[in-house]
Amino acid sequence: MWKRSAVAAAMVAACAFGQKFAVGRPATDADLKSRDISVLWDGRGLPAGSGTAVQGKDVYERRCQKCHGNQGQGGEEGPALVGGKGSITTAKPVKTVGSYWPYSTTLFDYTRRAMPFNRPGTLTDGEVYAVTARMLFLNGIIGENEVMDAKSLAAVKMPNREGFIKDSRPDTPAKGGKKK
Ligand code: HEC
Repeated sequence: MWKRSAVAAAMVAACAFGQKFAVGRPATDADLKSRDISVLWDGRGLPAGSGTAVQGKDVYERRCQKCHGNQGQGGEEGPALVGGKGSITTAKPVKTVGSYWPYSTTLFDYTRRAMPFNRPGTLTDGEVYAVTARMLFLNGIIGENEVMDAKSLAAVKMPNREGFIKDSRPDTPAKGGKKK
C-alpha cells in the first residue's frame, strides 16, 4: 500500500512533469468537486435537488426499463430491482432494492455513479432523486407523490435495515491482541 507521502510526492512529480512537457494541468476545485460524489449511509453528501416517483416514471422508462423491466422485475440485461420481500432468510434469497438494500441514501449514490449501466454519470441530480423515488415507490416503500430530497431521502427506513449483522471486530487486531 502507498503511503500518503509517497502519493503526495507522486502528485507533485506529476505536476512538474506536466509543466515540463506542456501536457495536463493541475486539478481545479471544480474538477475535484465533479468527482467528489460519495453519499454516506446517513445522507451526508446528498446534493441539492429533489424528485418524486411520478417524475421518475419518465426517467425510468427512458433510461432503465430496457434492462430492468417496466415494473423493475428485471430483464435479460439487468437484475430485478423490485420484489423478493421476505425471501432473504430463505434458501433462495432474491436480493432487490426492496428486499435487501439497507439504505436509500446509498441507492442514490449507486444510481448516480453507476447507472444507466451503459452510460453512467449522465443523469442530473434531480433525475437521480426522481428515479430513486421511483424504485422506492415500485417497492411499496414510499408514496408516488412523496418528494425525495436530501432530508426526506435520508429519513426513509428501508425494510431490510435491521437485516444485517454488525461486525464489531476491528479491521486489524489491537496491538498485542488476539484476532477474535
Ligand atoms: C444497459 C442495461 C442497464 C440499464 C439501462 C440500467 N441498468 Fe441498472 N443494472 C444493470 C446491470 C447489468 C446491473 C448489475 C450490475 C452489477 O452487479 O455490477 C444493474 C444494477 C442496478 C442496481 C443494483 C441492483 C442490486 O440490487 O444490486 C440498481 C439499483 C440499478 N441497476 C438501477 C438502475 C436505474 C435506476 C437505471 C436507470 C437510470 C438503470 N439501472 C439502468 C443494467 C442496466
